[in-house]
Amino acid sequence: MKLIKKLLIASAICGLSFSSSFADAELVKKGEKIFNTKNLGNCLACHAVNGKAIDGPGSMGPELSGLQYWPEDALYDIVYNIYEAKGITNTSMPAFGKAGWLSDDQIKAVVAYLKTIK
Ligand code: HEC
Repeated sequence: MKLIKKLLIASAICGLSFSSSFADAELVKKGEKIFNTKNLGNCLACHAVNGKAIDGPGSMGPELSGLQYWPEDALYDIVYNIYEAKGITNTSMPAFGKAGWLSDDQIKAVVAYLKTIK
């Protein structure tokens, strides 16, 4: 009886962690799409990432790297409103959240993707 209980608990835990990592992968995919899509984030237009860039203004922003080490909320704040997050007044990067271009959910997806950038 005890063993069965343990097995049940173990499988419940496995199920949980499986579904949450699955959800993470979905979120990262969604964020990457927003990052690369012109009428969504269009981040790739200004930021090269993982050696990938598009021709044109791709050098307006810094190449993004090492973001895996940044805290999620710092990344969220930058995408929401880089002016306030960094205390700067002149940058070409739009305040995506404040301007209403990206929703809270969309920014969270972008952040999940940014956290995969080495
Ligand atoms: C029109 C160009 C432009 C677009 C579009 C743009 N950015 Fe930026 N981004 C910049 C510039 C310029 C900076 C540097 C700002 C500064 O610190 O002066 C920057 C900075 C950043 C930083 C901080 C990097 C660092 O090393 O300090 C992150 C993170 C970032 N952008 C993410 C994004 C994401 C995610 C998107 C899309 C949702 C995006 N950017 C869209 C121009 C852009």
